[in-house]
Amino acid sequence: MRQPLVAGNWKMNGSRESIKALLDGIKAGIGAVNKAEVAVCAPYVYLADVQQQLNGSNVSWGAQNLSTEASGAFTGEISADMIKDFSCKYVIVGHSERRSLYGETDEIVAHKFEVARNAGLVPILCVGELLEEREKGITEEVVNRQLDAVINRVGIAALADGVIAYEPVWAIGTGKTATPDQAQETHAAIRQKLASMDAGVAEKVQILYGGSMNAGNAAELIGMADIDGGLIGGASLKSDDFLTIGKAAG
Ligand code: 13P
Repeated sequence: MRQPLVAGNWKMNGSRESIKALLDGIKAGIGAVNKAEVAVCAPYVYLADVQQQLNGSNVSWGAQNLSTEASGAFTGEISADMIKDFSCKYVIVGHSERRSLYGETDEIVAHKFEVARNAGLVPILCVGELLEEREKGITEEVVNRQLDAVINRVGIAALADGVIAYEPVWAIGTGKTATPDQAQETHAAIRQKLASMDAGVAEKVQILYGGSMNAGNAAELIGMADIDGGLIGGASLKSDDFLTIGKAAG
């Protein structure tokens, strides 16, 4: 049985002060989350604070991006080992904002997945289609292409060491959530694709949904057979809402 995972992606939000209050709230309520693992993915500069505040708690943490490079003259970049240095468990790779705003190609994302995994981080691989791609009926094709880039680079077995997040781009930050049926359809297609290559990997890999998931719609989404949790943006910035999602996941 796959353990549900509810991960917050804070994106470029917060301050030392607001993050302290947010984590205090999460820690105070985490006891009511029974089944799900709860994690937060913080901006790099706050990872030391996050580590200090979450050490010894039941909440995991991670980063939102990493460099493909190990070290050297790459001004402004952060390596996998640096992220590991702050005891991060997770790192998000290939978020649609990285793909669309910072030019990350499928190949770059696959490289980042590989580097994260080799460093012992758990990559949360984001995939998902644009609105026009959904309207053209090519959602599965787009998601398959994004997955294949990673599988071709690291092999299907390596996917078992990561998490997949299906985030339809049109649902991110828009308040327009995929319906549970729409999301389940794509999640099932992803799992079937994996199963056609390796049944064990398909059974093991958690597939999270992301895109305007909130305290009101989480239970229904996570209740679907192939939705193993959520990657939460806006609603992860409020401890009550975030914990409600955690509880909705069991
Ligand atoms: P929202 O929950 O704000 O729509 O963001 C989703 C997301 O991009 C998580 O990575």
